[in-house]
Amino acid sequence: MKALVEPYKIKTVESIKLLSYPEREQRLKQAHFNLFNLKSEDVFIDLLTDSGTSAMSDSQWSALMLGDEAYAGAKSYYKLEKIVQEIFGYKHVIPVHQGRAGEHLFFTTVLKKGDYVPSNTHFDTTRANISYVGGIPVDLVIQTKDCEHPFKGNIDLGKLDDLIKKVGKEKIPLGTLTITNNSVGGQPVSMQNIKETKELLSTYGIPLYFDACRFAENAYFIKKREKGYENKTIKEICQELFSYGEGCIMSAKKDGLANMGGFFACNDATLVDKVTHLLVLFEGFRTYGGLAGRDLEAVARGLQEVLDEDYLAFRVNQVKYLGDQLDKLGVPIVKPTGGHAVFVDGGEMLSHIKKENYPAQALTCSLYKEGGVRSVEVGGLMLSRKDKESGKMIFPDADLVRLAIPRRVYTNSHMDYVASVFEEVKKKKGKVKGLKLVYEAPWLRHFTAKLEEV
Ligand code: F0G
Repeated sequence: MKALVEPYKIKTVESIKLLSYPEREQRLKQAHFNLFNLKSEDVFIDLLTDSGTSAMSDSQWSALMLGDEAYAGAKSYYKLEKIVQEIFGYKHVIPVHQGRAGEHLFFTTVLKKGDYVPSNTHFDTTRANISYVGGIPVDLVIQTKDCEHPFKGNIDLGKLDDLIKKVGKEKIPLGTLTITNNSVGGQPVSMQNIKETKELLSTYGIPLYFDACRFAENAYFIKKREKGYENKTIKEICQELFSYGEGCIMSAKKDGLANMGGFFACNDATLVDKVTHLLVLFEGFRTYGGLAGRDLEAVARGLQEVLDEDYLAFRVNQVKYLGDQLDKLGVPIVKPTGGHAVFVDGGEMLSHIKKENYPAQALTCSLYKEGGVRSVEVGGLMLSRKDKESGKMIFPDADLVRLAIPRRVYTNSHMDYVASVFEEVKKKKGKVKGLKLVYEAPWLRHFTAKLEEV
């Protein structure tokens, strides 16, 4: 078996520093037990997100100099448009500064109050943008007890059909699939599931759109796990996959291998005109959409680089490498590991802490305190909601901690270090305290929440 080796070498380095234990304790208190409030210079290994944190290649950096900064009709835009048309197959391409800007423009254009938007699982910004315009996001991911299910990100077609029958197709202007399915562990969606979703939605005349942030990682899983795709290139798999949809929203901060950027793409000329009206109002002119010409260049190259199978093999296996180490230590993780992150069951690991006291958030705090590792909670703090009728909080089934691995940034010895921090936390886990909220914002509260130990 080939060793797990990075298919790139390092040309530039950025120093990182591990603060002392008392310093980390103090920073945690100052941050109100919310790692979003930490300064990045106080973090040793940053696994908060894989979004916008990729290391760009020498080719991308050199492309920055070619950025055409013209307000209108920049060369860089046409390069991006051509690449997107080639990989995604959609005619119209609108740049936006990041994924959620695309969500805002798209959902404002297509949704009416009371419309439903089914998905495998909506990401939190997608959910928030749908709700913001009065829509109702619905998650219909398959439920499986099989922890080695190869496509745990799939949508449950039976539930999708039931929803359409229950609320009526007139109330569902579109369906979406998030590839890979971030919120349930970066789990992929199979080509078969995508195809069948398209077929089901088509019978009701409902279009399918993709949340395509991690499309290349999803395509790699299809190549490795789905029969009939082993000899196809990643690009061919992507082309087939996107052919089942009418368009996509893309945050290029993930599989665009760029630090900023995104786009909305589709085949519908009328829709694209409507979205463009809002684009000009909120983001910028049609050919730059809130980005500099050099950003468009970086994204155009990143989209090509991400299709490299050696890169994807290392990427997905590095995530697995960390997951396997945690598994050996007896840390409960979501299996199989996903494309961009290892998800740890914080609720199970710190089972002495009640749901109401955010065990997964408490675990993120411990990982920082013990080793300067920053992760993110995907549990009660991020996902619980107040029931409108009873006024009671409804907590998600699982309290997870996500260790999202930035692309091309950390080596495997960094992963070994992270595993050793878990070992330390495990030793002291009985002493980890739960948390209570002392401040929350009306939208996406986890970003700005303030907490205290209980
Ligand atoms: N959709 C998915 C599946 C995402 O994971 C994200 C962002 C977005 C949409 C929004 O894109 O950040 O460019 O506005 N996910 C990041 C994360 C923030 O950490 O998972 P954005």
